[in-house]
Amino acid sequence: MDHFATYPLLNGLTIPQVGFGTSQIADGEPTAEAVVAAVKAGYRLIDTAARYNNETGVGMGVRRCGLDRSELFITSKVWGTERGYDKTMASFEASMDRLGLDYLDLFLIHWPACESKYTDWKEQNLGSWRALKELYAAGRVKAIGVANFMPKYLQPLMDDGMVPMVNQIEFHPGYMQKECVDFCQANGIVVEAWSPLGRRRVLDHPLLVELAAKYDKSVAQICLRWCLQHNVLAIPKTVNPERLAQNLDLYGFEIAADDMARIDAMPEYGYSGIDPEVFG
Ligand code: A2P
Repeated sequence: MDHFATYPLLNGLTIPQVGFGTSQIADGEPTAEAVVAAVKAGYRLIDTAARYNNETGVGMGVRRCGLDRSELFITSKVWGTERGYDKTMASFEASMDRLGLDYLDLFLIHWPACESKYTDWKEQNLGSWRALKELYAAGRVKAIGVANFMPKYLQPLMDDGMVPMVNQIEFHPGYMQKECVDFCQANGIVVEAWSPLGRRRVLDHPLLVELAAKYDKSVAQICLRWCLQHNVLAIPKTVNPERLAQNLDLYGFEIAADDMARIDAMPEYGYSGIDPEVFG
């Protein structure tokens, strides 16, 4: 296993096990430079979203990075204000215009319409999903999936004839959403971890600090390696060159089963507080 290792997707394609998250990086030059640096460091998966307002910079970085487009795996997402078939289609086209790319490797519904807010939550989500399925059938995107969909929200999409290939959810030590991960993995859905470092909130946890010393790794590497040993794809975000390289250097060590179990048993820690049952 090396940093080009992949997970299989349900459609037979593959997805890198570690990706570069771009949320909160400013559009234009800062994002373009970050993407170029990430590719140079060895990242092949670049994760953006309409909501991140930096797709233009991602496209600039992709064209500038020196690799063939086919060597990269680019993800974007449709935001919650653009739900339903028509708006999702329009949002996709707007994303593609900003990115300046011919196709996406992965397109995700960013948040489900949640039951607590919308009586027609199922129809809204299915409308978006049908747009994604059409884009997939037309070859505009190579894979489709969702983000922040708990099993209750995944099931109607699955019942509509196609299983999402990816579910990107909050996942880090102290917040592993086991029920959702188990459901996804039992159905062949690749789980992607957003905030795999709990946006730094977990980096001071005594158990993780102890294990970092034991394995002679950083706490971030313990978090990311823990993701991989759960077959979860991690998309850490950083613009710091050292941390960029460090977050990809995850294959020369293994967390022992008893230490994995100790991390798994951590009480809730570092949770963002963003609940898809309310937020979507
Ligand atoms: P920075 O960009 O200054 O490196 P997450 O991926 O969970 O959202 O966390 C992102 C945050 O974690 C960013 O603030 C980033 O800061 C920081 N970060 C990323 N990689 C590391 C690392 N290896 N060690 C410490 N902090 C990191």
